[in-house]
Amino acid sequence: MGNLYHQIAAEIISQIEKGGYHVGDKLPGVRAASVTREVSASTIVAAYDELLDGGYIEARPRSGFYVKARAQADFLSPKMSQPSMIPRDVVGQQLVLQLLHQTQLASVVNLGPAVPDVKILPSAAVEKSVVKMARLHRLNVCSYELFPPGNLELRQQIAKRMALLGCQLDVKDIVITNGCQEALLLTLKALTSPGDVIAIESPSYYGLLQIIEHLGLQAIEIPTDPIQGISLDALQLAMDHWPIKACLVVSNFSNPLGASLSDDSKKALAALCRKNKVALVEDDIYGDLGFGHQRPSVCKSFDEKVIYCSSFSKTLAPGLRVGWVASKQLAATICQLKFMGSITCPTIVQYAMADILAGGKYERHLRGMRIQLAQSMHQLVLAIERYFPANTRITQPKGGFVLWVELPLENLISKNFDTYELTLRLLDEKIAITPGKIFTTTQKFKNCLRLSSGGIWTPQKEKALKRVGELIRQAYKE
Ligand SMILES: Cc1ncc(COP(=O)(O)O)c(C=O)c1O
Repeated sequence: MGNLYHQIAAEIISQIEKGGYHVGDKLPGVRAASVTREVSASTIVAAYDELLDGGYIEARPRSGFYVKARAQADFLSPKMSQPSMIPRDVVGQQLVLQLLHQTQLASVVNLGPAVPDVKILPSAAVEKSVVKMARLHRLNVCSYELFPPGNLELRQQIAKRMALLGCQLDVKDIVITNGCQEALLLTLKALTSPGDVIAIESPSYYGLLQIIEHLGLQAIEIPTDPIQGISLDALQLAMDHWPIKACLVVSNFSNPLGASLSDDSKKALAALCRKNKVALVEDDIYGDLGFGHQRPSVCKSFDEKVIYCSSFSKTLAPGLRVGWVASKQLAATICQLKFMGSITCPTIVQYAMADILAGGKYERHLRGMRIQLAQSMHQLVLAIERYFPANTRITQPKGGFVLWVELPLENLISKNFDTYELTLRLLDEKIAITPGKIFTTTQKFKNCLRLSSGGIWTPQKEKALKRVGELIRQAYKE
């Protein structure tokens, strides 16, 4: 039966979302569906079970399966951010690592990490590929995998996948890195000198702020819509006023907002950067994790000069540390920088990753993972509705596993309310959230936090979120 049932469930979800099925419509019976789809009845039962679990359908006794009205939580989305649009030094990022050390202890229920729960990662498939490739390449695994740009088969597999996204790349244009973090670091190193200004989203992934601090750059935070991503008008304005060297965006299901640029915005962003001679760096690390049927587009498909960074950390195995940069113009410089910094990437993980991609395991795994992410995101949203104060605003992303919460400012008992303090308080109770202020260089987002479903919603997480809600409510007047 394999993953066929996932595929069938995903197809039906997509039909429901596109309006092919309406609330109250009856799905074909198990026997009829198994005949039409030419699969076993047990495959259909498994697919319908998955739809039941996700709250997409309901079973009516002696009648059949019906499309259900999904409890769509009735939240307003957070407002467009309003940073001051002045370049700033980035300082104090050591705070983030200190905080992460505490949140990642095994005894802590972590409701904030932008990391998939290990239970939804294909550990057995990874193990098989590692063992198989270690045997097959017995003589090579203990030696360097040549030098950058890295393993050829892996780069071929990545080039093939990127061609499906409309990016025609030569394998020479792809450099394998230790995750997306190193891809971003080497890219910004190649593009900038200390003191240069980088335009980023607001709020922005804190790992990027770490890189900006490390390289001695300045960040200019650009107003960002929590649903539609970076404001192009504001970016244009910033480009008119400041000598911006590069602009970095997470184009699909961003961290921490979960925002995605539309195709038109991606195209317009690439054109805007080209017109203003600003390098556009696209971080697409969550792009494969959309809940819909169609993989979202990438800015690079609209302009080959876009520098594309990604990894398999959010989809397959953060521990393998396999990422890449794709850029014809920068590949040689990035190879040099990679060599100077860490020579090359580990050999065995590159072989294993190439094997996982070539054998189709990655695609099969993604099909199931996307459904699970959609379900767990839905459960997280419903839990926030149950426990958080009225007038809380949240993003409801269409992919990935993190969302952004904006707590109301009205009726707070103290004007100094800060989700960072709340985080420390919760850590005493072995619960972690990710506070808003680590996603900015400014004093903003103290009433915000990032939450994550992790891809699995458990009774333990539900209990922890209930406690988070209780403590938040205590910060408000009755
Ligand atoms: C937007 C974004 N870019 C890059 C990274 C770093 O990814 P990696 O673990 O592959 O280095 C993360 C991890 O949280 C991320 O959220």
